[in-house]
Amino acid sequence: MALPGPGAGQLDTSRPSIARIRDYWLGGTHHDEADRGFAEQIVVCAPHLPYLVRAQNAFVRRLVRYLIERGVRQFLDLGSGIPDVGAVHRVAHEVDPGAKVVYVDLDPAIEQDSAELLAGVDNVTLLRADVRRTDDVLGAPAVNELIDFAQPVAVLMIEFLLHLQDSEDPADLVASYSSALASGSYLGIAHFSQDEQLQEGLTLFSRMFGAPPAVTLREPGELVRFFTGLELVEPGIVPVPLWKPGPSDEHVRNPELVQVHAGLGRKS
Ligand SMILES: C[S@@+](CC[C@H](N)C(=O)[O-])C[C@H]1O[C@@H](n2cnc3c(N)ncnc32)[C@H](O)[C@@H]1O
Repeated sequence: MALPGPGAGQLDTSRPSIARIRDYWLGGTHHDEADRGFAEQIVVCAPHLPYLVRAQNAFVRRLVRYLIERGVRQFLDLGSGIPDVGAVHRVAHEVDPGAKVVYVDLDPAIEQDSAELLAGVDNVTLLRADVRRTDDVLGAPAVNELIDFAQPVAVLMIEFLLHLQDSEDPADLVASYSSALASGSYLGIAHFSQDEQLQEGLTLFSRMFGAPPAVTLREPGELVRFFTGLELVEPGIVPVPLWKPGPSDEHVRNPELVQVHAGLGRKS
């Protein structure tokens, strides 16, 4: 949960990383002792957090398949985390190995993990950049070598916007990405809402490591503004298990109570 700030650039393996804890809960390979130890402690006070992470990962798989079925072959995954289990390129390449995927993350540890995971994989790259600096991302040669912004692109912000406070005007940032997209492009968002067990996990983190990670949880009604100017794809903004669920998805007794909401907007 060492959240990168604007000046981030150093590897810090003494603190657990939110991306690596997620990778551990998803059955991935990129986590170390600090991550696993803290992940196990979180589960004691917040036993359903691994389920939330898996439910969100399953949502991303369904989302990517849905987009591929609609002809999208370009993906820009902002605040990507570790491109391991259920990563966008893996799902997309099951259907079309020619699909282009650019991951963007600020964390140098993720850049390192990605170099290993993406070695020898065509049509995929990770750019280490601050998503808040739109020009650094949209103007990066690494992005433009793979992505043609004259064609439809799916921009994904999966559990990224919670790192932005309202004072940073996240809606304006999202709009600056949406406005760069061609007709037929999509914007996919997943976002944690108020969840008691997530709060427990954050409290535990601050007790053990000092300052808590700065996250802003948002209710589904607060996510609507991110889709301004886009047409919301059915079923709208819903808890992740309810977004076009498939028969092989992990089921939960009360999916409407899951406090991770997601939506997909289409630019016409
Ligand atoms: C909660 S993780 C989500 C990872 C991934 N999208 C997933 O769903 O598994 C958020 C990621 O956003 C990255 N991040 C946070 N602020 C960022 C910023 N300003 N620019 C780029 N990446 C950022 C973090 O390093 C982290 O990997």
